[in-house]
Amino acid sequence: MSAAELALASGLALLFVQLPDAPYEETPPEIVERMLHLADLHPGDVVYDLGCGDGRIVIAAVRRPGVRGVCVELDPARLKWAREVAENAGVSSLIRFVQGDLFEVPIQDATVVTLYLLRPTNLRLRPRLLRELRPGTRVISLRFDMGNWEAERTEQVGDPPRTIYRWTIPEPRPVR
Ligand SMILES: C[S@@+](CC[C@H](N)C(=O)[O-])C[C@H]1O[C@@H](n2cnc3c(N)ncnc32)[C@H](O)[C@@H]1O
Repeated sequence: MSAAELALASGLALLFVQLPDAPYEETPPEIVERMLHLADLHPGDVVYDLGCGDGRIVIAAVRRPGVRGVCVELDPARLKWAREVAENAGVSSLIRFVQGDLFEVPIQDATVVTLYLLRPTNLRLRPRLLRELRPGTRVISLRFDMGNWEAERTEQVGDPPRTIYRWTIPEPRPVR
């Protein structure tokens, strides 16, 4: 293949590769614990981490009795890693691993959604969360807010301090 053909093939391949909506950065373990504390987990909860990276949030969540998790990740290599970490921790049977775009994967059965993305990604995701999640579902975001959807609780954690935000999906407004 000539250099020109190779450049064209690489360009075409790029057209079909979906770019992530947030870069990879791990949540430190002590912040994972604070996020899950703020989520107020109970038996029966189903925790979705949208953009789950190495799976650390759902892996920590399913260690609570009766909690199950769903790890949604665009990057197949990272999802494979998450599955291996969960297997080594003996909790993989409690987690569903989904390779895909967090804007496409069904989320209706979540009772808790955790996010560590970017503010523009949160803002794009917000209508979907409000439309598709059931009332009472808690949404927890590290570092990034949801614009004028005001958080019901916030907490400062770590050094340098980072903010954790919590929202609860409201009951639909009665139509008059
Ligand atoms: C900041 S990292 C957070 C990882 C993990 N949630 C944590 O807190 O340790 C963001 C993750 O979102 C993933 N991601 C970005 N855009 C995505 C998309 N559209 N669908 C699914 N995952 C995505 C990235 O690959 C990355 O692993």
